[in-house]
Amino acid sequence: MMNLKGTRITWLGHATVLVQTAKGTNILIDPFITGNPKYPKGFALPEKIDYILATHGHSDHISDVAPVAAKHHSTVVAIFELANYLGEKGVAQTIGMSLGGTVQLNDVAATMVEAKHSSSAQDELGVHYVGVAAGFVLTIADGPVLYHAGDTAVFGDMALIRDLYQPEVAMLPIGGHYTMGPKEAALAAHLLGVKTILPIHFGTIPQLKRTPEELAPLVDAGVQVVRWTPGESI
Ligand code: NI
Ligand code: MN
Repeated sequence: MMNLKGTRITWLGHATVLVQTAKGTNILIDPFITGNPKYPKGFALPEKIDYILATHGHSDHISDVAPVAAKHHSTVVAIFELANYLGEKGVAQTIGMSLGGTVQLNDVAATMVEAKHSSSAQDELGVHYVGVAAGFVLTIADGPVLYHAGDTAVFGDMALIRDLYQPEVAMLPIGGHYTMGPKEAALAAHLLGVKTILPIHFGTIPQLKRTPEELAPLVDAGVQVVRWTPGESI
């Protein structure tokens, strides 16, 4: 495993990931807790979650944004339209941004990057336009560069993410059906130039059948596919 220089990454099942930097910034990505069958039972989130990052509006990525933000006094970062939607849902502090932009979150520079996926949010009033789906590159001062792909297919411009930000660790969806599967994720890792893959978005529901075991033999030599279970940290 590569040296994360004090940064701790904890998988909470599905696409939910907690990133804690050596300097003490806590960032929660795509909180899906109440309805998440793979959320580690009894896992206690840190009291202070500085920022919540939302990649897109689907309920398996935002259903717990508002309650977690309220309880943990978090600022929510999302694409402009989704940030506005979450603001209307009661999130007090939001940062709306868009593709290609970077915001500084304490010691973490968060860049919003492209994802190939759909996005919308649904509530009792209907379906809402909440911008496009995105991913995040987190450039941590004195730490590693992480990439959370959100929900996506593989796309050729992942090579631009490599050229611009040189991510070292990629959290990639691999479950298939709604996102890429192992074959595509192996090419994604190649285009990104990452040495470590943290597989996410698999095994949560029956449709997300693909596994890290299928991915491991497909990646380039020297690339590690981490086998982790929800609640585990690296
Ligand atoms: Ni989605
Ligand atoms: Mn999803």
